[in-house]
Amino acid sequence: KPEDKYVEDELERGNYEQKRWEEDHLHAATLKFGAKDAKTKNKVKEYDVIMDEEIEFVQTLKMPGVGKNKEKDEMMDSSKLKKMSLEETRKLLPIYPFKQDLIDAIAEHQVLIIEGETGSGKTTQIPQYLHDAGYTKNGMKIGCTQPRRVAAMSVAARVSQEMGWKLGNEVGYSIRFEDCTSERTILKYMTDGMLLREFLSEPDLGGYSILIIDEAHERTLHTDVLFGLVKDIARFRPDLKLLISSATLDAQKFSEFFDDAPIFRIPGRRFPVHVYYTKAPEADYIDAAVVSVLQIHVTQPIGDILVFLTGQEEIETAQEMLLERTRKLGSKIKELVILPIYSTLPSDQQAKIFEPAPPGGRKVILATNIAETSLTIDGIIYVIDPGFCKQKSYNAKTGMESLQVTPISKASANQRAGRAGRVAAGKCFRLYTAWAYKNELEENTIPEIQRTNLGNVVLLLKSLGINDLINFDFMDPPPHETLVLALEQLYALGALNHRGELTKLGRRMAEYPVDPMMSKMIIAAEQYKCSKEIITIAAMLSVNNAIFYRPKDKIVHADTARQNFFRPGGDHLTLLNVYTQWEETDYSTQWCYENFIQHRSMKRARDVRDQLESLLERTEIEVTSDVGNTVAIRKAITSGYFYHTVRLSKGGQYKTVKHQQTVMIHPNSSLFEEHPRWIIYFELVFTTKEFMRQVIEIENSWLMEVAPHYYKARELDDGAIKKMPKRIGKSKNDLTRTY
Ligand code: CDP
Ligand code: MG
Repeated sequence: KPEDKYVEDELERGNYEQKRWEEDHLHAATLKFGAKDAKTKNKVKEYDVIMDEEIEFVQTLKMPGVGKNKEKDEMMDSSKLKKMSLEETRKLLPIYPFKQDLIDAIAEHQVLIIEGETGSGKTTQIPQYLHDAGYTKNGMKIGCTQPRRVAAMSVAARVSQEMGWKLGNEVGYSIRFEDCTSERTILKYMTDGMLLREFLSEPDLGGYSILIIDEAHERTLHTDVLFGLVKDIARFRPDLKLLISSATLDAQKFSEFFDDAPIFRIPGRRFPVHVYYTKAPEADYIDAAVVSVLQIHVTQPIGDILVFLTGQEEIETAQEMLLERTRKLGSKIKELVILPIYSTLPSDQQAKIFEPAPPGGRKVILATNIAETSLTIDGIIYVIDPGFCKQKSYNAKTGMESLQVTPISKASANQRAGRAGRVAAGKCFRLYTAWAYKNELEENTIPEIQRTNLGNVVLLLKSLGINDLINFDFMDPPPHETLVLALEQLYALGALNHRGELTKLGRRMAEYPVDPMMSKMIIAAEQYKCSKEIITIAAMLSVNNAIFYRPKDKIVHADTARQNFFRPGGDHLTLLNVYTQWEETDYSTQWCYENFIQHRSMKRARDVRDQLESLLERTEIEVTSDVGNTVAIRKAITSGYFYHTVRLSKGGQYKTVKHQQTVMIHPNSSLFEEHPRWIIYFELVFTTKEFMRQVIEIENSWLMEVAPHYYKARELDDGAIKKMPKRIGKSKNDLTRTY
């Protein structure tokens, strides 16, 4: 049968590949224990680089019981993990023996840098230790920031479980548009962005006795801004303790920034990790990752697998491929549990990654960068690292920001490899060559503050009364032109006056936990009498790209369903239409299912929308509706996003108005086959080309109406470009009607 043939091929390929790996393994082993003879020595040479960093992955602290093989095997086998009680596992964490030392050090110093291997217990244990030490007396809170939403949620869940409390009571979390805390909350996990916003309502953060800026090494934009702010409040709040905690990177730098604060090092526990490289570059790293997973599963001893991919789409693709192939292999292989983890995954599904593999089986976790340092999953022995992550990049000249799949840094690659050596010796399979590692990867990831739009942060700092941004205490300052551009953009939006001071509009905009363009759009909706529609659109845009469901076996049906939602004018109106129809079914799950809409994304959009609605009230904007008036709706959008205007130019290409950059309409857009002359886009993604995602058609005259101080009539001249012929159909008639 063809199926059997497939199975054979797959297994055979597995064996072959294993041989290749084993060969490399031999080299690794030789150098590790000293090359014995000239022959191997020669062979080893080309791996010198590999070895150098492998030396880093040695065990620095003996773990109780490990060393005897039987117990080691048990540690590796995540199906055995359940047997230990929570209390017992807590005591096994590397941080546990240092509990008292840590408490003493914190008592003695106001600011402390804490450095420890990922998984040593920093995030989950330190707040509990400090609670035991009395820092939560009189209702004072311990706050702990996380760069990622998923980490904040899952760590809070874990801690509440360890303490035997219900999540949301004493232990809670707060992430954008989701507040799972109460009056009683004393241990509060939150995203760094949320703590930043807390400064707006409580500038001295008086409710906190301790602030932990966790995962500091990630150097997200918000964490970097927090550094400057908390350093400042620590000066006039001597009672406040400040902990800066990071994986084993940059501790020295943090110490220097915080006036030479002492570093508390938690000795790590790392087992050797053997790093393997492919001999040649991989053309398709998702396929290579899938093949590697199957090979490990078929040929390697027990232990779970962690695969690093760049985002939800890739993860879903890999998941489908793995499901399909394991199904074909059937009972010929042991059970393989496939578990995805990424930031927008609902929390009940996130929790699954922590469940042990079934007895005798193995789990494979398909993760984004979240698993690099923010989340520790026990039982991982094998790491597959394709070498990429999704990163924001920003061009300060054109003001264009886009998400791109980018090669990771060496520091990242080593963190990833380290994930394999937590419970026993592990293996890391890099799907790139040793040469690429050495010559193509940067040493460190560039801090986000140096590659992103700063509009949001500048608006926030201005709202906090910090006017002199050039001299703000940044650990690594952003490029001057990025700062200037942010100020210019805020001025164009009307949030700042010509002296760079916050305007009344700017103050209102800062109330919204969204980008300045979006908050401006929302506030502008007041004038166009369509705030109800605009907050729906804003909410739908906030759950970006997770609305339409497109299963591989029903692509045609799914696409037809999606196209039925199209509305003339563009994608924002399509999103509005989806939400309105769903609302009319009384938020039916069945309706979502029938229309290939992701119900959980819709639920999230509804939550976001509810919160935006209460913010409308707070900023005294009347909820008005004018659903049929798509001109009004699109004018409101234009008021916020006029920066993102592009124009059709010769040859059917689109170019940005200000900088003449070429961009394309995303094929999923309802306007893909129409060719409107003027377009506003919501965001750019760079895949093979620079694509605009979520676009609407506008009229150039609107730009003069909403941003007269930004555009000059000359720039908006329509010239001789003729509109491309449109497809004739229902949409065209609708268009003429709504105009
Ligand atoms: O912060 P750090 O990387 O030092 O470690 P941690 O996040 O406190 O994790 C310590 C241990 O808690 C991990 O080894 C996991 O076993 C466990 N943990 C968990 O089971 N579930 C979570 N959501 C988070 C941590
Ligand atoms: Mg942590």
